[in-house]
Amino acid sequence: MTTTTRPSDLAYAAVRHVIPEVEWATFADDIDAIHALKREHDAVILAHNYMTPEIFHGVADIMGDSLALAREAQTVEAGTIVLAGVRFMAETAKLLNPGKRVLLPDLRSGCSLAESITPQQVRDLRAAHPGAPVVTYVNTSAAIKAESDICCTSGNALKVIEALGVPEVIMIPDQYLARNIAAQTGVRVITHPGACEVHERFTPLDIIQIRQGHPGVTILAHPECPPNVVAEADYAGSTAQMQDYVEREKPARVALITECSMSDNVAAAHPDVDFVRPCNLCPHMKRNTLQSIRAALEHGQHEVTLDPATSDAARRSIERMLEVS
Ligand code: 13P
Ligand code: SF4
Repeated sequence: MTTTTRPSDLAYAAVRHVIPEVEWATFADDIDAIHALKREHDAVILAHNYMTPEIFHGVADIMGDSLALAREAQTVEAGTIVLAGVRFMAETAKLLNPGKRVLLPDLRSGCSLAESITPQQVRDLRAAHPGAPVVTYVNTSAAIKAESDICCTSGNALKVIEALGVPEVIMIPDQYLARNIAAQTGVRVITHPGACEVHERFTPLDIIQIRQGHPGVTILAHPECPPNVVAEADYAGSTAQMQDYVEREKPARVALITECSMSDNVAAAHPDVDFVRPCNLCPHMKRNTLQSIRAALEHGQHEVTLDPATSDAARRSIERMLEVS
């Protein structure tokens, strides 16, 4: 008699340090079903670093920060992309793959930054600052990207702004990312009052208390945090840059000032690092579950469609960013 190893058994090796076997067993049927559905429907799963470990390590094919997901979306050969993340990420994947089917498992996966600005507000900013290019964080809708000169992510914002070679830029919609980048460059940065509802909740006092309670801790903060939080941290970077930092520097003890699942996913690969976990949950990212991903593949839901005129302009903003970075 031959026994076959199930995909869920193979995946468990990656998470054994962070998830008890008895808990993993509750995920196994969905993980195995999703692997079969991916083969059946010629699909790949792109997953953001904020996905829970059973998604990130159990079913994802490509994982990363917003920049990596945008880059990797260009290389996908499968006919269907399931974007385990939020709507703006699925739109970016669709913009870069107009001929492919892109599925978002839950239509409610929005983003407070994407919802913080309208196309008219972008036009008003342009009118108020003639000649200043609009640099738009990817955490925006395709309609906002279409109004922009170039996109950026938290991983390449400084590079993008400096590559423009201008004295002044309009950077939308995250006021904190914009101010954190402004502190690193001589370029004048005009901001819009958007914020990430997850990162704006961290305070300098949180960081001070973590240091007091956990001697020797290295603190890495996401640049969507307010500047006074970033000022208290040892390093600021995108989710992928935080992960690289842990891999490169191997701190004995670390705190990632960002969304909760990030620490779980990085900790899985670093059993020797002590992770302090002061995190905030993103309710939009957490709309993704094994069940919603399974249903997305079973029923072909929810397909992302974009207006062609908006798409062409939005795609140009993303492609310019990818050329620069
Ligand atoms: P990055 O993964 O690009 O750092 O973005 C964080 C984020 O909040 C995405 O929604
Ligand atoms: Fe948006 Fe913040 Fe959630 Fe990222 S973590 S999707 S920026 S609300």
